[in-house]
This record gives sequence, C-alpha cells and structure tokens, in this order.
Amino acid sequence: MSIFTRRSKKARKDDSVVLPEHIGIIMDGNGRWAKKRGLPRSAGHTAGAKNFRTITRYCSDIGIKYLTVYAFSTENWKRPADEVSALMTLFKQYLEEALTDFKYDSIVVRFIGDTSAFSPELQELIQRTEAESASRTGMVLNIAMNYGSRDELVRATKLIAEKVRSGDISSDDINEELISSHLYTAGQPDPDLIIRPSGEYRISNFLLWQAAYTEFIIRDKLWPDFSTDDLDEAINEFARRNRRFGGV
Ligand code: FPP
Repeated sequence: MSIFTRRSKKARKDDSVVLPEHIGIIMDGNGRWAKKRGLPRSAGHTAGAKNFRTITRYCSDIGIKYLTVYAFSTENWKRPADEVSALMTLFKQYLEEALTDFKYDSIVVRFIGDTSAFSPELQELIQRTEAESASRTGMVLNIAMNYGSRDELVRATKLIAEKVRSGDISSDDINEELISSHLYTAGQPDPDLIIRPSGEYRISNFLLWQAAYTEFIIRDKLWPDFSTDDLDEAINEFARRNRRFGGV
C-alpha cells in the first residue's frame, strides 16, 4: 500500500516516513522502452519527458525540497544527430509546457551544466525559465543539461585557481566547503537518494562529488514506466536504511 495519502489534489506524506530532502534521478531507459514497442528512440524520449513532468509535480506535492534530474549529459552529444536533434526539440517543447504547470506548484527551476553549448533559442528559454521561477518558494528542480560531474569539477577547479592567482584567496583556504560552493549545486544540500531506473548499476558522471554519502536505489523498470507508486516505494526503502555517514 502507498505510504502516502492524497488529500484534495495534493499528496501529503505520512508523518512517520523520513522523506529525503534532495532526490536525484537518472532518467534512463527511454531508448529500450521505445525499442520494446517497435518505435523510434525519440518516442521513448517523448514518453520519458511526459514522466519527468508527472514525477516532478509529484515530488513537489509530497514535500521534496530539491529534485535533480539528469536530462542530457556531456557525453550524450555522441548519439546520432537525429536523436540529439529530437531531444533538443523535446527540451524546447517541454520547457515551454512544463514550466506553465510548474508555476502552479511554485517550483523553482534551475539548470546545471554548461548550457552555453545549446542553440541561442534554447539558451534564451533556459534563462527566461530561471529568471521567471527564481522568486518562487517551492521545490527546487535542477535540470542537468549538458552536465557532467567531471566537467563540473574542472570548471570549479579553474574558478578557484583564478581566485588564488588573483590573490582573492590563498591555497590554504581551499577546503570541502569551498569546492562545494563552486559547483553548479552551490548552496544546496547533497542528494540523500539517487534513483536509477532501467537496471543499470552505474553513476554515469552524475553528481560525483555531491553523492559521497548518497543512498542509491536501482530499479528494473524503464524510466517512462517508473510511476509515482514506484517512487513511494523507493522513498519507503530509503526511510528504512541506516545512514551512518562514515560513523558507526
Ligand atoms: C537516457 O535513456 C535518457 C536520456 C539521455 C534523455 C533523458 C531526457 C528526457 C527524459 C527528457 C526530459 C525533458 C526535459 C524537458 C527535462 P537512454 O536513451 O539512454 O535509454 P536506453 O539506455 O534504453 O537507450
């Protein structure tokens, strides 16, 4: 049975369940979902984008404070040109549509990754989305686009090196907090839980630094089939885990 009950249109968490403050999701399995149905891979991404919208609103409804979704990695440019192009079209369409929905949920939308690689039109949409949602007070949604954790760490290292070179800080000032504050996720708590559907046991360059003490949940379901019940069940499993953060 679900650990959550719905009152009016909003889900409310069962007070006995410890909710993760920050959830990360690797939205994997769109291609396989489409292949199983004899459809082009792009149809899998369309179904995945639909589910992104459903799961995001659900996370907001049940009181998750931060959600980070992996939408496009620094390595995804290697995919066939028609697939990359279909994804770009989908990002534009879904950003426009989902952002209207997200307004009603007061969701703050942020983008993590090097967005300067996208078309001027998509960059403009990204900037507008961030600006329009910045003053909202609800869940923070980080959409990782052209994101790679190694790339993020290289960027942070360069920013810090420049501050040392210019004399703003000394190398003795470099510590874990300083590094965290130069990542795209600066000021946000580390993810408590990362979920990877589609049965792959890999982190795929996602939040490497931030995931030092994150709990992982892998599920066999492909992303377009990953439901709100599956999310409830993952949160339930997370709540049963004993997190020790290196202690006893
Ligand atoms: C991985 O599945 C999925 C992606 C590379 C794309 C994820 C993008 C979306 C779900 C669209 C989200 C939309 C917005 C607006 C954020 P895969 O293609 O690697 O699947 P496979 O392993 O089965 O081939």
